[in-house]
Amino acid sequence: MTSLRSRLWFDNPDNREMTALYLERYLNYGLTREELQGNKPIIAIAQTGSDLSPCNRHHLELEKRVRDGIRAAGGVPMQVPVHPIQETGKRPTAALDRNLAYLSLVETLNGYPLDGVVLMIGCDKTTPALLMAAATVDIPAIALSVGPMLNGWFKGKRTGSGTIVWKAREMHAAGEIDDAGFMEIVASSTPSVGYCNTMGTATTMNSLAEALGMQLPGAAAIPAPYRQRGHVSYQTGERIVQMVHDDLRPSAIMTREAFENAIVVNSAIGGSTNAPIHLNAIARHLGVPLDNDDWQRLGHRIPLLVNLQPAGEYLGEDYYHAGGVPAVVGQLAEAGMLPHPDAPTVNGRSIGENCAGRASELPEVILPVAAPMLKDAGFVNLRGNLFDSAIMKTSVISRAFRDRYLSNPDDPEAFEGRAIVFDGPEDFHDRIDDESLGIDETCILIMRGAGPIGYPGAAEVVNMRPPAYLIKRDIHELPCIGDGRQSGTSGSPSILNASPEAAAGGGLALVRTGDRLRIDLAKGTADMLVDEAELAARRAALPAQPFTPGNQTPWQEIFRERVGPLSEGMTLRGAEVYRGTAAKGVPRDNH
Ligand code: FES
Ligand code: MG
Repeated sequence: MTSLRSRLWFDNPDNREMTALYLERYLNYGLTREELQGNKPIIAIAQTGSDLSPCNRHHLELEKRVRDGIRAAGGVPMQVPVHPIQETGKRPTAALDRNLAYLSLVETLNGYPLDGVVLMIGCDKTTPALLMAAATVDIPAIALSVGPMLNGWFKGKRTGSGTIVWKAREMHAAGEIDDAGFMEIVASSTPSVGYCNTMGTATTMNSLAEALGMQLPGAAAIPAPYRQRGHVSYQTGERIVQMVHDDLRPSAIMTREAFENAIVVNSAIGGSTNAPIHLNAIARHLGVPLDNDDWQRLGHRIPLLVNLQPAGEYLGEDYYHAGGVPAVVGQLAEAGMLPHPDAPTVNGRSIGENCAGRASELPEVILPVAAPMLKDAGFVNLRGNLFDSAIMKTSVISRAFRDRYLSNPDDPEAFEGRAIVFDGPEDFHDRIDDESLGIDETCILIMRGAGPIGYPGAAEVVNMRPPAYLIKRDIHELPCIGDGRQSGTSGSPSILNASPEAAAGGGLALVRTGDRLRIDLAKGTADMLVDEAELAARRAALPAQPFTPGNQTPWQEIFRERVGPLSEGMTLRGAEVYRGTAAKGVPRDNH
């Protein structure tokens, strides 16, 4: 049994007077001295649910079961409100607030009498924000997903949240549905509490929190309204108390080995292109080296096993009934593809032990390794004079896209095209249907000014639809490249997260409409076929701060001054040196 850091507030023999001050306000809502001074771990419940955050709002219910579990195991629960991060509600993008929620949770966990924390994760950015904070402070931590929504249905077909928006957008542009029809289809995809039921960023990051070892086995995939979600909430509360007694901390679980496992699992589930950003960020805060070359090297040749939208056809409930993360991990381990079965997890056992013998219960939803949806499902990491790093999710390259762009028998992994450049999504919406641009199937759409500094926060605006006249001709995808991100629920085979971004002087700042571009997936390159002298002249003509609209809030200014590129996780420069905060001692007394 380790000594509790909360006792340095509530029972500090070095400073009796301050103990009274620290104690009395926590007594005044009914907690007793026995509870606060009885050597019981004080457990934070990092609450991300609120009226502003519908994806995570069910955590307000689950918190009751977490509290019951903490109490039953001899701990004292305390709710910690987390700055809201709602993917669909926050302008200019929820990604801007990931680092703000991170900062605020670090300060809270470090500055209050807390011994361990339950991370109430779910909607896209909530999972990385909370894992990043746990990584920095490094007190015992366990994650609990809010769980996906029930499956959406429309006219007998599954409609997936997020994914259906991109489909409906095309149908609307082609005149197949009107505004009311658009709303009806989109709303059908979100029938209950919980996060997106597709393999978007939420399902991805919640699955990876389990693959990293930070959730109880099987906890990620349970749909939000199911009774098992309540059970695992109780068990999570019980478990964190023992983790405090055992001093089992995030740095002992989220090791380099755990990240390598997570990269492999991400390929097998067909995970979001946001995963490298967030995992690279969490790793930075732990001091674990991890970059996009690791993602390609470890993840590219892993098969796609999970048949969920947008790459496949099923949804969250099906994923759960097929066995969720343990079935995926069990099958990968059985095939010798899980690099580190010995990696520890929050329940005190290794991930290999937790998932041994687990296999798919619904082989049409989680496929066998021997007969996957796709053989090489991971990301490729591209570089060239357009950027130093940008990723492409190969599992979403459709047959039609492959036939059109990747079918030259002499050069099957490469294509060339004419650049059509948009400076931000407003410019795209204004001009995409302008026939005078002459956009046809040989064009590559560029979105710039959409990165961490340019937007700010890096918005999910790179997956651009073709002009309506091309959609009517049955052309549903054009290659897209951008320094922003793409929604994990989108199935577009875009080249994303380009770093450095245009606003930081990256190559995308120099590209012009009409330039010829060449993408070679085999060589891992992406270039403007423009000579050096011309590029140098264009660079000399750039304004000092290109593609950077003014700041609207103090946080936008601070964020822009400190933020790193997407390839490095979009973290705040300098924050990573503060890792292991709690072990460095508690802050000074406040009076
Ligand atoms: Fe919140 Fe998808 S928008 S989980
Ligand atoms: Mg999104």
